[in-house]
Amino acid sequence: MSKSYDVVVIGAGPAGYIAAIRAAQHGMRVACIDEWTNRDGKNAFGGTCLNAGCIPSKALLESSELYYRAKHEFKKHGITTGDVGMDITAMQKRRAGIVRQLTGGIAGLLKANKIDGLVGHGQLLAGKKVEFTPVDSSPEIIDADAVILASGSVPIELRIAPFDGDRIVDSWDALEFDVVPSRLGVVGAGVIGLELGSVWARLGASVTVIEAMDDFLLMADRDVAAVAAEEFKKQGLDIRLGATLTAAKVTGDAVSAEYEDASGAQTLEVDKLIVAVGRRPFTDGLIASDSGIQLDEKGFIVVDNECRTRVKAVFAIGDCVRGPMLAHKGSEEGVMVADLIAGETAEVNYNIVPSVIYTAPEIAWVGLNEEEVKKSGRPYKTGSFPFAASGRAKAMEQTSGMVKVIAASDDDEILGVHIIGPMAGELISEGVLAMEFAASTEDIQRTIHAHPSLAEALHEAALAVDNRALNYINR
Ligand code: FAD
Ligand code: NAI
Repeated sequence: MSKSYDVVVIGAGPAGYIAAIRAAQHGMRVACIDEWTNRDGKNAFGGTCLNAGCIPSKALLESSELYYRAKHEFKKHGITTGDVGMDITAMQKRRAGIVRQLTGGIAGLLKANKIDGLVGHGQLLAGKKVEFTPVDSSPEIIDADAVILASGSVPIELRIAPFDGDRIVDSWDALEFDVVPSRLGVVGAGVIGLELGSVWARLGASVTVIEAMDDFLLMADRDVAAVAAEEFKKQGLDIRLGATLTAAKVTGDAVSAEYEDASGAQTLEVDKLIVAVGRRPFTDGLIASDSGIQLDEKGFIVVDNECRTRVKAVFAIGDCVRGPMLAHKGSEEGVMVADLIAGETAEVNYNIVPSVIYTAPEIAWVGLNEEEVKKSGRPYKTGSFPFAASGRAKAMEQTSGMVKVIAASDDDEILGVHIIGPMAGELISEGVLAMEFAASTEDIQRTIHAHPSLAEALHEAALAVDNRALNYINR
């Protein structure tokens, strides 16, 4: 007799494993299938985020920032050291250890929630059946009352610069370099290009970023993007805008990257080339041709606002569906879908998904940027506060950047919060919470913020919206 579950989830990344746990919390019998294999040949839950994305990149970010600060900033604090050295093997061992602990933690969470974590490949067949092929044995058929597809995404590979796992690499390989490349090329000044480019720059690589667009960080507020461009330049990141990669060739120990910019054809010689030009939904082998699931022209699984596919009781969540490719967006979809399957009302507020770019300084925002508000035609007002005027930021020696709040002129509703500066990724949560509760800037203005704290910068920016900043001269 075939196995049966209330819910079968395919994919145990931040979308899938969270959906599985939430469904189990509703008392459902749940299986979560995942085939992820790490470079050591071992299977691990957690998907891209834990194995090759969010977590390992932040582990390296922290190490590289500490190294950089010890080398360049300790002196200002009156701290003297001998020569600050770097042991990249130890750094990478720490990174791998964190990944191992956290992915092991997911296995523990599944078990504690009585979820069957099945290691192997899952394929949705017609009639809500799932074919599960364990890594080392033959396929079996599982019956499910509901199926959640959470198969994630993979890096886009350019035909003109195919990945070879050594010289021309994707973001996963770029997290596992065992030597700091002297000359590093990055194709794409998007989130990955900037985060990984700055990690390796802080560790001593000379980094050149080739970006096809003429404008820098198009998804961010223009004021924030301008500060970011200045900061990255100061850090030595050579970002070449309006530059499109046309070819890349490996010769011996080097990569020759050809690109076109306004002045014509150019060549860049580097030791390693990271290609980070976006990610695509991954659905290879996920759905049988008669399953009834529809993909759009870019390969995303077609879903409605509640992540329902065209097939009854089959849902899809996370990077394999429309919307930003962010772990927290996928997780919230997982919670929503499990609640819907349990018969509850649930939704995801897609208007307030926070974005964070983990560079130094960090960049974070939620809601609309000024260009978008302008385009909407709604009258608005803005207020900004620079970290240079924040006592806490000064004490931290991290005064670059600012907080900007955008609000509607008519009812003072907060429309967007934009931050570049220390701990922006933490500070943005206050903006998200305020917007979730439809707060006005006056609500933030009248909320007590601890002193001295970085959060005071958000308080002051909210006050500045009405020209009432208290620790800065209003316009
Ligand atoms: P994934 O995490 O990709 O998981 C999908 C899982 O499904 C995988 O384990 C895969 O093996 C498995 N799978 C697929 N098909 C099958 C099948 N047929 N059978 C069995 N298993 C299958 N996002 C953030 O929010 N913050 C960050 O700081 C951040 N940093 C990032 C840094 C990097 C370098 C990268 C590459 C990404 C980063 N992201 C970050 C994006 C984040 O990793 C993704 O948005 C997130 O992992 C998507 O979650 P998911 O569950 O949809 O898919
Ligand atoms: P991206 O979409 O952020 O950036 C890709 C960049 O490459 C774009 O600016 C694009 O104009 C440029 N590009 C494309 N083709 C090019 C070419 N031929 N030559 C030069 N430039 C070219 O994609 P990225 O950085 O790969 O990240 C993928 C996704 O992963 C992100 O969209 C994000 O959702 C997620 N992510 C999130 C992180 C976070 O939340 N902190 C961190 C890392 C990734």
